[in-house]
Amino acid sequence: MGITSPILAPENWQAALAALDWQAEMGVSDWLQDAPVNRYDLPERLERPAVETPAQARPAQARPAPASQAQAPKADAVAIAQQAANAADSLDALRAAIAAFDHCDLKKGARSTVFADGNPAARVVILGEAPGREEDQEGLPFVGRAGQLLDRMFEAIGLSRQSADPASALYITNVLPWRPPQNRDPSAEEIAMMRPFVERHIELVNPDIIVAMGNAPCMTLLGEKGILRLRGTWAQALKRPVLPMTHPANLLRTPAAKREAWADLLSLKARLQAVRS
Ligand code: URA
Repeated sequence: MGITSPILAPENWQAALAALDWQAEMGVSDWLQDAPVNRYDLPERLERPAVETPAQARPAQARPAPASQAQAPKADAVAIAQQAANAADSLDALRAAIAAFDHCDLKKGARSTVFADGNPAARVVILGEAPGREEDQEGLPFVGRAGQLLDRMFEAIGLSRQSADPASALYITNVLPWRPPQNRDPSAEEIAMMRPFVERHIELVNPDIIVAMGNAPCMTLLGEKGILRLRGTWAQALKRPVLPMTHPANLLRTPAAKREAWADLLSLKARLQAVRS
């Protein structure tokens, strides 16, 4: 007679699935390793010498920080981001500059740097908030459930990230290229730090219209949040019209808000036609 593990017993499979989902949600992404990896600790550990001399082999806490490290002023991350963004003269250069930017702690916990998807010649850019779990795994924005809804919404007015024709194409990016832990909202500091890259990104793509999908993009472009109040009201940023819209993740939670989202999509369609003629 075989032994059935309690977690694998048929009546327990839902519990096992829930436990697995919970671990993935907490950021567990590598299942088979000999030792646990603290991703937040990684850069520091990698810089340590592989073989320690007897003098170095003291407990980590007892080792005094080098004077240069102890007294180093905190880098001005916004100024560094601004400089790196200004120097990027193409989308490839901007992608490389963001990947090389080490001042945002979110990067340490993320699996991917999510840059963008769609057609860079598109007339419409969608600016989202930040990658979620699926986006972090695939390295592309808006590929989870909210992303699938977003695709259906824009396809309903003839726009798609797959379109080769700029007139019917979309280009999609986010305020933050790294997934915040447990999908928390981006902080004001993170938004300020990444804003220079967002602005340069928009400049390089040069769309006719920006759709600000949720609070973080409204904060980044318009300096205010309150998406339920802002949605549907055209604004102006980076020398072009901006349409704030309710995030599709919110529409999944509150299907009644889809009616307003449809009104916003029709407003976008009309504005695009007006810009074209
Ligand atoms: N939500 C966002 O704002 N962006 C994504 O890429 C995915 C979900």
